[in-house]
Amino acid sequence: MRNFVIILSFIVAGIISAVMIGFDMEGIASDTYYDDEQEGLQEQIIIRFSHVAAENTPKGRTATKFAALLEDKTNGKVKVHIFPNAILYNDANEWKAVQNGSVEMIAPATAKISEHYPIWQILDLPFAFPNYRAVEAAYEGKIGKALLEGLEHTNVKGLDLWYNGFKQITTQESVIRTPDDFSRLHFRTMPGAVIQEQFNQLNASTSILPFNKTYQNLKVDFVDGQENTLSNINTKKFYEHQQYLTISNHGYLGYGVLMNRDFWNGLSSQVQESINEAMHEATAWGRRHAIEINDQHARAIRSNQSLEIYTLSAEERAQWRKALRPVYNEAEQTVGSDLMEEIETIKENYAH
Ligand code: SIN
Repeated sequence: MRNFVIILSFIVAGIISAVMIGFDMEGIASDTYYDDEQEGLQEQIIIRFSHVAAENTPKGRTATKFAALLEDKTNGKVKVHIFPNAILYNDANEWKAVQNGSVEMIAPATAKISEHYPIWQILDLPFAFPNYRAVEAAYEGKIGKALLEGLEHTNVKGLDLWYNGFKQITTQESVIRTPDDFSRLHFRTMPGAVIQEQFNQLNASTSILPFNKTYQNLKVDFVDGQENTLSNINTKKFYEHQQYLTISNHGYLGYGVLMNRDFWNGLSSQVQESINEAMHEATAWGRRHAIEINDQHARAIRSNQSLEIYTLSAEERAQWRKALRPVYNEAEQTVGSDLMEEIETIKENYAH
């Protein structure tokens, strides 16, 4: 009898536990569990960021920095997938891709943006910036603000301006020293009215070609030369089909960082704030490191000795400046006197 009571009490206790644990639907439904490893897919925001430069360039490295900062600030909720080297889209189609939402972000050279919004050509004016501090004053001051705000009613959001470096000239047959040396040569260029006018004033002809087609066009001698930063010249191995490098620092190559506007508008204000913060910090990082990154590539170019390097004398620079002055008159008609005056002020303030 005693054994029967013990067995019965086990059975009753089991039934009571089953009812409490197994059938307590309300308790289960009200608890939600956060699992960092298995975050719901709809929780994750992916930003596809396509660009044309190599990873080890100012743009490539700043993009990586931005991705890390943003992921960190959002505890992994926002991830940036970077597609460098035009593996997804090149200059010819990245603009369309960001407009139609095939990617969320691009960072074209300012000259490429000026093809769509001509006021951007101001940043490509030859000899506009005597040094890096002058570039910073333009990018982070009145000019940068006007360019980014000018995109407000378009379908791309302007997030910031990023840094690369001063452009130099490479050629195959003969070294460029004076403006006359450009005469009758054919150059690969980026698009944009200022750049076309620059080569026009130098009596050179141009073909506008995507960045990732430049190497091939140098190789088959379709073009005699091109202009670019040292990091781009080195990472794209232009030196394999060019013999001369002229250190001219005649123009600055930087980027506008753009996001698909509908995508931006669909983000919560918290995520937008994180993007703005990460962008601000990444831009500051890029500004601090772009010079050193280009210097590293300059050292690599010097040490592999495949280019004969010529640096313009002060007298030759003055000749270039004079020859290219008419480019300013052309640009003023599009850019307007207000921003052109700002460029002149920056030039004066940072001349020494
Ligand atoms: C880039 O730096 O994004 C490419 C520049 C070019 O097209 O020359």
